[in-house]
Amino acid sequence: MSVCEFKPGLEGIPAAQSSISFVDGQQGLLEYRGIRVEDLAQKSTFLETSYLLIWGELPTREQLAAFEHEVRYHRRIKYRIRDMMKCFPESGHPMDALQASAAALGLFYSRRDLDNPAYIRDAVVRLLAKIPTMVAAFDLMRKGNDPVRPRDDLDYSANFLYMLNEREPDPLAARIFDVCLMLHAEHTMNASTFSARVTASTLTDPYAVVASAVGTLGGPLHGGANEEVIGMLEEIGSVENVRPYIEECLQRKAKIMGFGHRVYKVKDPRATILQNLAEQLFEKFGHDKYYDIAVEIERVAEEKLSQKGIFPNVDFYSGLVYRKLGIPTDLFTPIFAIARVAGWLAHWKEQLAENRIFRPTQVYSGLHEADYIPIEQR
Ligand code: CMC
Repeated sequence: MSVCEFKPGLEGIPAAQSSISFVDGQQGLLEYRGIRVEDLAQKSTFLETSYLLIWGELPTREQLAAFEHEVRYHRRIKYRIRDMMKCFPESGHPMDALQASAAALGLFYSRRDLDNPAYIRDAVVRLLAKIPTMVAAFDLMRKGNDPVRPRDDLDYSANFLYMLNEREPDPLAARIFDVCLMLHAEHTMNASTFSARVTASTLTDPYAVVASAVGTLGGPLHGGANEEVIGMLEEIGSVENVRPYIEECLQRKAKIMGFGHRVYKVKDPRATILQNLAEQLFEKFGHDKYYDIAVEIERVAEEKLSQKGIFPNVDFYSGLVYRKLGIPTDLFTPIFAIARVAGWLAHWKEQLAENRIFRPTQVYSGLHEADYIPIEQR
C-alpha cells in the first residue's frame, strides 16, 4: 500500500496487532481470547470475562475470588468526587458526567507507575469498581437525591442495579444485566478502543485513557445509537407505522439506528443474544409494545437492506432490555461504557506491552505559499 493512499475512517487499515478479541463479520462470529461470546454469555460472569480479556486467560477459582473481592471493596468513591459531581448541571448528559468523573479519578490515583504490575492491577480494579458507582451516583444526584452507597454483599451487576433503583433487583434481572455487560465488554478495533490505544500510547495515566474512550463512545454513530433506537421506536409508535417510516428514512438517505456495522455483514451475534434476553424479560415481567415494533423494523429492514449487508447491530435490542430493567434512556450509553472499560483496559495493557506512540500521517490538501492578507483587505 502506498503511504499516501487515504482511507476515510481508516477502513481496513490495521492499527494494532491484538490477541484480545476476534470478529468474523461474514460468519457473525465474535470471540474473546478465542472463546465464543455465546459461550461466555451462557457460562461466565462479567467480572470473570473482564479478567479473561485483561489478563489473557480464564482465572482459576482462587484468582477469580481474589479479583472479585478486590473489585467489591473498591466500589466506593471519595466524597470529593461526589461533591464535584453534585456541581454538574442536572441537565448534563450522563456520558459527559462520566467522562469528567473518570478523568477526575486521575487526580486522586495517578502515579503513572506503568512498569509496576501492582499499579496496573490497582488501576484495573479501581476503574471496574468505581465507574458503575459514578454512573449511579450522577443519576441520583441529578434528581436531587443522595447517592446510594454500594452494597458489599451484592455481586457486581446486582449492586449496580441496587445503587440505581435503591432496591435489590430480581435475580433474573441482575443476571440478564450481567450478560449485557459481557456482550458489550470488547469488540476489536472500534472508534473508542482506538481512542483508548492512542491515548495509552503517550504513556499517560489509565484514567485519561478511559476518559478519552468514554468521550469517543458517546457519539450516535458508536455507543450512542442505543439511545437513538428508543427515540425511533417512540416516534414510530405502532407496528402499522413501521413500513412508511422505514421507507421514508431510506428515501431521504437517513440511517436506521441500530442497523449496519463496519465489520458485520450479517446479524450481529450480540443482537441475537440480546433479542433472546429481551424475550426472557418480557416473559417474566410483562410485554413491551416497542418490542413488536422492533421486530417489524427488523422484518422490513431485512427486505430493504439485507442485500447491502445491513442487519441489526448490538444497539438494536439492548435498549429494549435496559428499558424493561427500568433504566433511563440516557444511561444506556454510560452502561455500555461500564462494560467496555474491560476491553479498553485490556487494550491499554496490550498497548503498553509493545508501545510505540501513535503518529499517523495525513494527505495534505491545503494551500502552499499563501499570502498573508492584512485584516482590512479581507
Ligand atoms: N440504515 C440505512 N442505511 C445504512 C445504515 C443504516 N443504519 N448503515 C449503513 N447504511 C448504508 C449507507 O447509507 C451506505 O449506503 P450507500 O452505499 O448506498 O451510500 C452504506 O450502507 C454504507 O454505509 P456507511 O455509513 O458508509 O458505513 P460505515 O461502515 O461507515 O458505518 C455505521 C457503519 C455503524 C456507522 C453505520 O452503519 C451507521 O451509521 N449505523 C447507524 C448507527 C448505529 O447503529 N451505530 C451503532 C454501531 S454498532 C455499535 C457501536 O459501534 O458502538
